[in-house]
Amino acid sequence: MVERETWATRVGFLVAAIGSAVGLGNLWQFPFKTAANGGAAFVVFYLIAVTLIGFPALLAEFVVGRRTHRNVVDSFAELGGPAWRVVGAMGMVTGFWILSYYDVVGGWVLRYILGSATGAYFDDPGAYLSAVASGPEAIAAQAVFLAIAVGIVAMGIEDGIEKATKVMVPSIVVLMLALGAWALTLGGAADGLAYFLSPDVGSLVENAGTVIPDAVGQAFFTLSLGMGIMVTYASYVGEDDSLPVDGGVIVVSNTLIGVLAGVVVFPILFAEGIGPADSGPTALFEAMAAAFATLPAGRLLGVVFFGVVALAALSSAISLLEVAVSYATDNTDASRSTLALGAGAILFVLGLPSALDTGDPGGFSAWFVWFDAIAYNLLLPLSVLLVVVFVGWVLGRDAVAELRAGSTASGGLAMVWLWTVRLVVLLGIVATLALGFESLFLAEDATFFAPF
Ligand code: PHE
Repeated sequence: MVERETWATRVGFLVAAIGSAVGLGNLWQFPFKTAANGGAAFVVFYLIAVTLIGFPALLAEFVVGRRTHRNVVDSFAELGGPAWRVVGAMGMVTGFWILSYYDVVGGWVLRYILGSATGAYFDDPGAYLSAVASGPEAIAAQAVFLAIAVGIVAMGIEDGIEKATKVMVPSIVVLMLALGAWALTLGGAADGLAYFLSPDVGSLVENAGTVIPDAVGQAFFTLSLGMGIMVTYASYVGEDDSLPVDGGVIVVSNTLIGVLAGVVVFPILFAEGIGPADSGPTALFEAMAAAFATLPAGRLLGVVFFGVVALAALSSAISLLEVAVSYATDNTDASRSTLALGAGAILFVLGLPSALDTGDPGGFSAWFVWFDAIAYNLLLPLSVLLVVVFVGWVLGRDAVAELRAGSTASGGLAMVWLWTVRLVVLLGIVATLALGFESLFLAEDATFFAPF
């Protein structure tokens, strides 16, 4: 076994974790889930979910990783005994499940950079989408996306992930700020922002049953929880870093970038008269492409917008690959590159159902929706639930001690965190699971049975 790597700097850990958190979840899913759930009402639930459930759960994952400096599977086993391996394994399964369709979308994004540069989608954005969203083109683009991620992970923690994300994350921030400033000058800015930021309390109450699980699932997804990622990244952190401060920086940055994504997307859509209500997973691509096709300097804007999305998606994909690679490097003698390639190959195969056309008119795969719904409503909450039960009720005081190491947080504050994990987070997730179960299996249009 080779000696375990660490982050070269604290900033290295922060940017890598922010890079993981900021991804398609913020730039693509958050706007379209907001639109699908009636606008600002969803944003309110989401912010509550991030603060009350996501942040404490993030710290729980950090505690496990840093306490053991092991990969996600062995860390739970070391702390709780072999049976707790299942928590780490569940995280890995969830992560692979999600990345299997995530990398397909990553492939689309790469295609859209190209399409913007050449203006290929300018005449008929809808036809372009059908051509690239599924089938051989989607498979090829998915392969390219994975290959880039594999390449970065193969280079290691310090020379690969840390160096890459130190360039990627600041670029994302600067370019998003520039795009946001520009979007605010558009004719649709006021309407777009109103839709995004002023909640309709009526619809909030009425749709709580579907909005709550979506918002909690979104909070987990966007913070890269329940996939072993934050456990793994924290396992490379030293005892002198403050986990609560680092966690706070990550949550705040991630949330601001999510909000910024809405500030970019909604004014553009409203300026082009594209209804956010028809926004589905692909509609965002179609709508943004349609906007760039008519806007002055559309090619440049398109390249910048999809370029940012690609950077964000890649820095998330590498964090997930690292979970598997770190598990395998801790347990085998194979080289990092071989392992990264192996993980990439598995993901490529898992992504095939989502990348293949199932005959939907938009060229858009029903499998994809199925994968996504199961991830949000079942796998993510279940996986985080296991972590939370373990950290809150099994580790308990040890978790508090680990949280306090390197931090100035008082014992009282750390106990508040522990009880939040034990009760608030736990109950929040149980409620989410119950509602998610209902929409997956019991509701009239139960998503689980849709593709069959
Ligand atoms: N936090 C990521 C995002 O918002 C989620 C993610 C991470 C998904 C890693 C897949 C792999 O996009």
